[in-house]
Amino acid sequence: MLVLGLETSCDETAAAVVEDGRRVLSDVVSTQVDIHRRWGGVVPELASRNHIVQVMPVVHEALTRADKTLDDIDLLAVTSGPGLIGALLVGLQVAKGLSLATGKPFVGANHLEGHLLAIRLLEDAPAPPFLGLVVSGGHTSLYEVRDYGNYRLVGRTRDDAAGEAYDKTARILGLPYPGGQPIDELAQKGDPEAIRFPRALPGDNLDVSFSGLKTSVLHHVQKHGVPQGQALHDLCASFQEAVADVLSKKLVAAAKKLGHTQLVLCGGVAANSRLRALCKQRAEERGLRMFLPPVRLCTDNGAMIAVAGYEAWRRGLRGDFRLAADPAWRME
Ligand code: KG4
Ligand code: ZN
Repeated sequence: MLVLGLETSCDETAAAVVEDGRRVLSDVVSTQVDIHRRWGGVVPELASRNHIVQVMPVVHEALTRADKTLDDIDLLAVTSGPGLIGALLVGLQVAKGLSLATGKPFVGANHLEGHLLAIRLLEDAPAPPFLGLVVSGGHTSLYEVRDYGNYRLVGRTRDDAAGEAYDKTARILGLPYPGGQPIDELAQKGDPEAIRFPRALPGDNLDVSFSGLKTSVLHHVQKHGVPQGQALHDLCASFQEAVADVLSKKLVAAAKKLGHTQLVLCGGVAANSRLRALCKQRAEERGLRMFLPPVRLCTDNGAMIAVAGYEAWRRGLRGDFRLAADPAWRME
């Protein structure tokens, strides 16, 4: 079954062709970060307008790279939530339009389910049940994946998402948006023990919190000024260590508490080098298996939506023309 996945929930216009929910034939992502960077974050109206411009060329490119035409596609899968309403509507209307024009069925996919199920694209993918930590710009949520379509939220951030903490910290440090990658790169040459930033909620609870960490970076900068040179590397490494420490500890603690042996990390922040390394290390120390999607499948893409759409279709879900975008769609 060939699925065309379409993703326009935030600032990436993406399309991919995936076979049987497992094999990526093409995966095209057109990012808008250069457009939003000067505003320090995503401007929803600009996002929608640029999706409109990019969406058909991106779909065309995905089909071309897969050496397929719309005729070959069996199912259109589109992110219908959660995300920015105007941005979601672009993808959804395009999927409906293509469906109407070609007679091919379509299905609405959940963006977070897409992040979680991107791991299906690994050759050695875990079968449920597993624990999945979604760490992105908008979400930091820990799910128990009991089966495809059967998810239980077992922990979440009480305030900022992990990616949001990265983006806000980058802003404080005068680094470009989105802040994850620049901080990750600067941290490579820094000392993670230079500054002891706070680790919130290390107790029995499976929730996390990042607003204290961000405030602590702010206080540090107010007191010492924006660091330069080695001091900037050290601050980035110390901040990164705090985020990776909290998330990896919670993940393995959750595995122990809930009796899971397979762990999945996903979402844009799962591209983070230190978080990947620490999660892997702590999981292995406890005899747990850590599954990490390749970096290009961590940030928003169309392939993950094709997988989520494929699985939703197999569960009997069908899109109809009344399907509405749901900006706050809760997967559980
Ligand atoms: O999943 P995603 O592409 O979009 C959302 O659904 O939000 O995640 C974007 C987030 C941004 O906050 C970005 O700063 C963060 O992922 N990110 C990273 C890295 N690459 C992207 N955070 C830490 N380290 C990275 N290497
Ligand atoms: Zn995302």
